[in-house]
Amino acid sequence: MSYPYQIKSVEHYHEQYQKSINDPASFWSEIANNFVWHKKWDQVLNWNFNEPKVEWFAGGKLNITENCLDRWAETQPDVAAIIWEPNEPSEKTRTITYKDLLLHVCQFAQVLKNNGAKKGDRICIYMPMIPELTIAILACARIGAIHSVVFGGFSAQSISDRIQDAACNIVITADGVYRGNKVIPLKSVIDEALKTCPSVEKTIVYNRLQLSVSMNDGKDVWWNKEIQKVVDKNIQFIPAESMDAEDMLFILYTSGSTGKPKGVVHTCAGYMVWANYTFVNVFQYQSRQIHFCTADIGWITGHSYIVYGPLSAGATSLMFEGIPTYPDAGRFWSIVEKHNVNILYTAPTAIRSLMSFGKEPIEGKNLESLQVLGTVGEPINEEAWHWYNENIGNKRCPIVDTWWQTETGGVLISNIAGITNAKPSFATLPLPGVQPVLVDEQGNNIEGNGVSGNLCIKFPWPGMLRTTYGDHERCRQTYFSTYKNLYFTGDGCLRDQDGDYRITGRVDDVLNVSGHRIGTAEVENAINMHAGVVESAVVGYPHDIKGQGIYAYVIFNGEINEEVEVKSAIAKTVSTVIGAIAKPDKIQFVSGLPKTRSGKIMRRILRKIAEGELTNIGDTTTLLDPSVVEEIKKNRL
Ligand code: WT7
Repeated sequence: MSYPYQIKSVEHYHEQYQKSINDPASFWSEIANNFVWHKKWDQVLNWNFNEPKVEWFAGGKLNITENCLDRWAETQPDVAAIIWEPNEPSEKTRTITYKDLLLHVCQFAQVLKNNGAKKGDRICIYMPMIPELTIAILACARIGAIHSVVFGGFSAQSISDRIQDAACNIVITADGVYRGNKVIPLKSVIDEALKTCPSVEKTIVYNRLQLSVSMNDGKDVWWNKEIQKVVDKNIQFIPAESMDAEDMLFILYTSGSTGKPKGVVHTCAGYMVWANYTFVNVFQYQSRQIHFCTADIGWITGHSYIVYGPLSAGATSLMFEGIPTYPDAGRFWSIVEKHNVNILYTAPTAIRSLMSFGKEPIEGKNLESLQVLGTVGEPINEEAWHWYNENIGNKRCPIVDTWWQTETGGVLISNIAGITNAKPSFATLPLPGVQPVLVDEQGNNIEGNGVSGNLCIKFPWPGMLRTTYGDHERCRQTYFSTYKNLYFTGDGCLRDQDGDYRITGRVDDVLNVSGHRIGTAEVENAINMHAGVVESAVVGYPHDIKGQGIYAYVIFNGEINEEVEVKSAIAKTVSTVIGAIAKPDKIQFVSGLPKTRSGKIMRRILRKIAEGELTNIGDTTTLLDPSVVEEIKKNRL
């Protein structure tokens, strides 16, 4: 199989880029013609960033699962769609062909229907990284239900917030999950979450670990038993629901600068085209290659580059349940060797962590199958880039540094594997359809090369978010109000002398910890839930492995006898409220916080101190009480 829209050379890239800018409608309609539609669109693009309104392929009718499954089940039924590698190397690998994946998805879609699911319902999926997670996602899409996948590491409270926000009526989960040598009891986390989720009518539980779990009569059903009922009725196929191009496909919650995560909404057609186009082009996917994206499907990377991008391209997608360091730090390399992986897509934090184990875990592993490497999630430092290039790619694999966001649906800025130039720590050039601009604080366009500013995008691309669930005004406020007629990414960016883009990190109050996006306000809210905490302020600081670590300044009420104990109790509170990923790395007790006279915390100062920048912290004269700064500096951790 080949992809007629795959970019073939540097000249071709430039030519396609120009075409996508000069005539977006004909550019994207040519690409969209490569998909299966029930009815073609009436209008390619209809937009204005003021409302904001963005519609791609309006009037078109389709179902993404026919593009991911049916067409391949027909033309390449025995090709592996999913190769699954379990947490325990001793457990059996599973390979699921396109024909079988279609069967499983149809059967589970019928299970969903039997349990009351309808088109437009929101369904929360809290599952381990097992093929059933992909099956559940696609089954929702098959019947037109909107999936909201919640990462398996989130706490009961976080799940409950997300379920309530979207008013989900069904939850799909499992008894538990292995993560390294730990067992995480997902079903009991869900039981806790559902105490505050009146909208949920049914919970479907997959039996992964044979754990004993409590099943609520009438409300909780077993995946396997429900499937058996469908099998007994000999149901092997159900037709796909005909969806409008702009119907919602999924919601994925992500953090912003306020305390409450936002439900980013992606729609059927535009997202499909974007996930597919970027997958095929950035990685230069060739028929029958094995693509291994190490992300969890609970994040957008997994949605777009484990599930929808690869499957819509008829690719073979490798799904891994475990963690990079279990049973040892050679796990990724063993998987590459075992399955002859051709494309490896991972995060800088994973690279840095594996780097710290030295070369021993790589020795004796055959990595010759690798052809393309990728990174995503945060800026990659040059040291990690070179280590990846030399030790994993053996200097013969292009590395794509892919910049994008939950909101963008897929990659926006990246080099194209083996076609356009890579430059360590640069995402380099925009993909066709993407029009980046750099602006200053006032929103003035910064033209030319060798400049930095805030990164905005001035024209819609098919994969962009359409709204934030249940709160369109919030979408406008967050992304479209800072700068008129621009989508604001929240990232700072440099455009160098060659016109290449280098993302320098968030310019808002959002942290990037091990590639996970965490709002400082969210962590503060969580810390403040500890009964002894009066107030707190959270900032990021550079961390060797995680990229950014979480530094919390806390005003504590009363005596602190055992500092270690109080700190661990605060960290535990954060774990309970958000999840372990948001635990502060450092907690410093302070008697006050640097505030302006109007009561605003001066984070700039706290950030400088956390970074170890003690001499050059800037003007403190506007502070209500400048003396707290001296105290904070003195007791810095
Ligand atoms: C933020 C988005 C996109 C999937 C994973 C994260 C940062 C992402 C890069 C990169 C520098 C990057 C940005 C962005 N980011 N990729 N290649 N180079 N920074 O998705 O959780 O929505 O986070 O991750 O700061 O805004 P997300």
